Order: sequence, then structure tokens, then C-alpha cells
Amino acid sequence: MKIGYGVNRIVLLLPNLKLAIKFPFAYYNIRNAFYDLREKRGKKEDIPWLSIRLRFVKNLFRFFFRACRINWREFTYYLKRRHPIIQPTYFSLLGLVNIQRYGVPIPCDTGRPGYNKQFTFQIDAIFKGILLNKGILLRQYSDPHHFRNPDNFSIKNGQLCMHDYGEAHVQKALDLFGEILFQNYDPNRVITFEEWCDKY
Ligand SMILES: Nc1ncnc2c1ncn2[C@@H]1O[C@H](COP(=O)(O)OP(=O)(O)O)[C@@H](O)[C@H]1O
Ligand SMILES: [Mg+2]
Repeated sequence: MKIGYGVNRIVLLLPNLKLAIKFPFAYYNIRNAFYDLREKRGKKEDIPWLSIRLRFVKNLFRFFFRACRINWREFTYYLKRRHPIIQPTYFSLLGLVNIQRYGVPIPCDTGRPGYNKQFTFQIDAIFKGILLNKGILLRQYSDPHHFRNPDNFSIKNGQLCMHDYGEAHVQKALDLFGEILFQNYDPNRVITFEEWCDKY
């Protein structure tokens, strides 16, 4: 059993059962809000300490409801689309807990966990292709970082699969580019750094 830390959720990974269980706990946001709180505490600010604390609590609620909404949207999007590029979400308890199929992580090729340069190079190559052929830019529809981050993807039967697709802009981009990504991603393709600099 392992734990996956995301921007909005904390994930219990059970590879033996082929399941990933997602809870609405915005680990990184909560950590940042906590550091922010600690930092402000020591300073003499115009804002009263009580209101800083209230803002912290308000943020905790905001992160929680946002993560629940993302969990819920992930489930309903899967029910609606069922495209092979998306990792199946089997169940959601109103966003409080989601049960998703486990996917094999994209290996890391840089020594930095969850960071695969080849993955990012290939995503750039695929989207450059879309840009040339159709004149559509991923940036208009989604945050490109989300798609360039191997942490949001896994490999299922040798093909690319996305497991973080709860946000509306990501879903919109998947509607448009999901099939192209699915067809064009090749885990064995190698793009050199020079080629990437020149062409993509
Ligand atoms: N279905 C899955 N299979 C394998 N790992 C997963 C799966 N879902 C999530 N993870 C792991 O948990 C981390 C956080 O999950 P993610 O869906 O990206 O949440 P967030 O929306 O908070 O970024 C991912 O970066 C990944 O490492
Ligand atoms: Mg993520």
C-alpha cells in the first residue's frame, strides 16, 4: 500500500487490488496555508490575528469542498465519456471518497520522483502536431502543466491513461484532444533534447 499526494486529493494506492481510493484532502494547499498562517503570526500586520485565523479556517473549507467537487466531477465525467484515455472511476460517495482503477505510474527518467522528461517531450510533440494541423492550442482550453505532468497519467495495457480529470477545463481539453493523445502516445518513443529544442 502506498499514498499518492496530489494538489487536491490524497490517494490510497492498492496495486494488488488494482484500486486507487481518493479522499478530498488538498495536502499541498493546506500545507501552504498553514505555513502562511505561521509566517503571519510572527508579524505585526494591520490585519488582526483573529481574522487571519478565520481566513485560514475558511480556506480549509474551501479546499475541502473544491476537492469534493473534483472527485464528484471525475466520477460523472467517467460515466458520461468512458473513453479509454480515462482511468475508470467505479464509485463516488458524493465526492467524499472515490474508487478508481489503479494504473501503473509513468516511470521517472530523471532521478526526481514523478518527473519524466521523455513524457513531457512527447506531450509537447503531440500538441505541436495538433497545433500545426488544426490550429488549436491546448493553452486555450486547459492548464498545459496538467497535461505535461506524468503524475496525472499512468499506463494501462501499454497505452496512456489519465487518472486526474475532475476539473472542468481538463475535461474540456480531453473532449477535444483525448482521442489524439490516446492514439499518438507511444511509451517507447524517444525524443532527444536537441530534437525537442529544434522542433517542439
Ligand atoms: N488511478 C490511479 N492509479 C495510480 N496512481 C494514482 C491514481 N490516481 C492517483 N494516483 C496517484 O495519486 C496522486 C494524486 O492523485 P491525483 O488524481 O493527481 O489528485 P490531484 O487532483 O489532487 O492532483 C497522483 O499524482 C498519482 O501519483
Ligand atoms: Mg494530480
